[in-house]
Amino acid sequence: MAKRYEIVLKRNLCDRVNEYVIYAPLVAKHCRAGQFVILRTDEAGERVPFTICDYSREAGTVSIMVQEVGLTTMKLASMKEGECLQDFVGPLGNPTDLSEYKNILLVGGGIGSAVIYPQGKQLKKEGKSFEIILGARNKDLFFKLDEFQSFASTHIVTDDGSLGDKGFVTDKIAELFENGRQFDVIFSVGPLGMMKFVAKIAEKYGVKSIVSMNSLMVDGTGMCGCCRLTVDGTIKYACIDGPEFDGSKVDFDEAIQRSTTYKHIEEKHKCNIRG
Ligand SMILES: Cc1cc2nc3c(=O)[nH]c(=O)nc-3n(C[C@H](O)[C@H](O)[C@H](O)COP(=O)(O)OP(=O)(O)OC[C@H]3O[C@@H](n4cnc5c(N)ncnc54)[C@H](O)[C@@H]3O)c2cc1C
Ligand code: FES
Repeated sequence: MAKRYEIVLKRNLCDRVNEYVIYAPLVAKHCRAGQFVILRTDEAGERVPFTICDYSREAGTVSIMVQEVGLTTMKLASMKEGECLQDFVGPLGNPTDLSEYKNILLVGGGIGSAVIYPQGKQLKKEGKSFEIILGARNKDLFFKLDEFQSFASTHIVTDDGSLGDKGFVTDKIAELFENGRQFDVIFSVGPLGMMKFVAKIAEKYGVKSIVSMNSLMVDGTGMCGCCRLTVDGTIKYACIDGPEFDGSKVDFDEAIQRSTTYKHIEEKHKCNIRG
């Protein structure tokens, strides 16, 4: 019998991205696609949010796919199967509801592909009509491609042309529309700049856009204000009101400005974590 928050399985998916299967039966019992958890690796650790990418209610496990970008994600990468996380709180946020749409386009940029993975799995289960676009800087940054391709028709784009078509996800969206493809919603997850332009292109083609906002978070319960956004001129909190919002209503410029507030400090910081 696994221990609480034990890493029961850890596997490398691609450069600096690992999948962790965590024993967390209460989270597994209640979670749905689109929700996330906040974990701490150890007692002195920071609280960091990750999307629930998969789960097994029977086995009591939850999967997360994590890109190493800083302190906590590197600490996590150094942990081994059999070790336990300090906390694993969830499910948090609102589940995705795409039930009103008939033809759906899922778009994942970089690690954003981890966030659209559960949507793809769910839509396939529901027998919905949908296509997928995955984008990354180069061919080494993709993962679970076979699975994505088994969910639906999957278009791949890379900045350098090393896999799929050369270009950005927005080029591929435009190409699909110009070729007469019809979608009634574009669900996108990726860097803020990418989601801003996906929302604009959706507007151009008269299609609804839903974005999943990966704002910095601390408590995940709407109290600290860290994940504050302006949506349709009103204040929203990504952790309790989201993480998904109507892309045409999100003030992306403010979100980008807030996400880079400490960039000048981060740039000066000499990181010794990797030795
Ligand atoms: C709802 C939600 C779901 C998420 N799902 C996933 C997921 O499934 N897989 C995954 O790998 N990541 C996901 N993220 C992002 C993840 O939480 C951050 O990468 C993580 O907090 C970084 O922690 P760190 O201590 O390693 O990095 P830090 O040392 O805190 O930061 C390192 C660098 O990463 C940047 N960064 C930190 N947090 C974020 C963030 N939230 N978004 C973008 N850049 C950030 C920092 O600005 C800095 O430049 C999600 C975020 C949210 C809000
Ligand atoms: S994370 Fe604190 S209000 Fe959302």
